[in-house]
Amino acid sequence: MHPMLNIAIRAARKAGNVAIKAYENPSSIEIDTKGANDFATNADRAAEALIIETIKKAYPDHTIIAEESGLAKGNDAETQWIIDPIDGTTNFIKNIPHFAVSIAARVKGKTEVAVVYNPMSNELFTAARGKGAQLNGYRIRVSNAKDLDGSVLAMAFPFKAKQHSDSYFAVLQKLFTKCGDFRRTGSAALDLAYVASGRLDGFFEIGLKPWDIAAGELILREAGGVVTDFAGGNNYMVSGNIVAGNPRIVKDLLVSTQNDWPENLRN
Ligand code: IPD
Ligand code: CA
Ligand code: CA
Ligand code: CA
Repeated sequence: MHPMLNIAIRAARKAGNVAIKAYENPSSIEIDTKGANDFATNADRAAEALIIETIKKAYPDHTIIAEESGLAKGNDAETQWIIDPIDGTTNFIKNIPHFAVSIAARVKGKTEVAVVYNPMSNELFTAARGKGAQLNGYRIRVSNAKDLDGSVLAMAFPFKAKQHSDSYFAVLQKLFTKCGDFRRTGSAALDLAYVASGRLDGFFEIGLKPWDIAAGELILREAGGVVTDFAGGNNYMVSGNIVAGNPRIVKDLLVSTQNDWPENLRN
């Protein structure tokens, strides 16, 4: 196994244990509001600290980008770890057992290893570049849906930017007539991992951050999926506006909505 994947898995399991302990003892959870409908808890921070400690022990020089503590430049700026200690904090706070630890490592701009770990279901999604994607050690593949007809798509509402609701809902309505159904699960990292494992056919969301996307993206690509922005380009890491799925679903989704996304949400 890729040595960095080994470290990522170890860190994710440790963080997952922190999250489980807090989840099982909800009165221990302290909630801070970071912005509109945007929260962090003491468990997010404790899990993140443990991940960083585990990575630093193995790779003291690597650069770290983590949701709750930001950028920590190391001597090696070419190797970056991108960390979301709990993706799905709202679920976590509400005692809904659907959240994940997300860890990716990038070397010279290319993601090399990725882990998305749901500690509540003990599901570990992993990938190493060029080596395929796995769920608990078993190879996974995207679904073979041919087009949107009958497909199940994960999506999210613009809950942090409600000024975009009208234009967003107009596109949703159009897509809803074309697909089978939507899911709003509350964890973008798990949405990408579920698309990778064929549980969902596709996924789209606006305004994500790099730590929501980095690990799930590699897992999905290694499972045969594609990731783009709404214009079919690759600005999604910057804009956070993302479309993902098997190649045919992404094509149908882009063609079906190409003239509908407002300019500012397109890429
Ligand atoms: C959030 C989750 C959620 C998505 C949000 C993210 P967080 O991450 O991925 O599914 O809709 O946009 O911010 O804040 O729980 O780590
Ligand atoms: Ca957050
Ligand atoms: Ca997140
Ligand atoms: Ca988070």
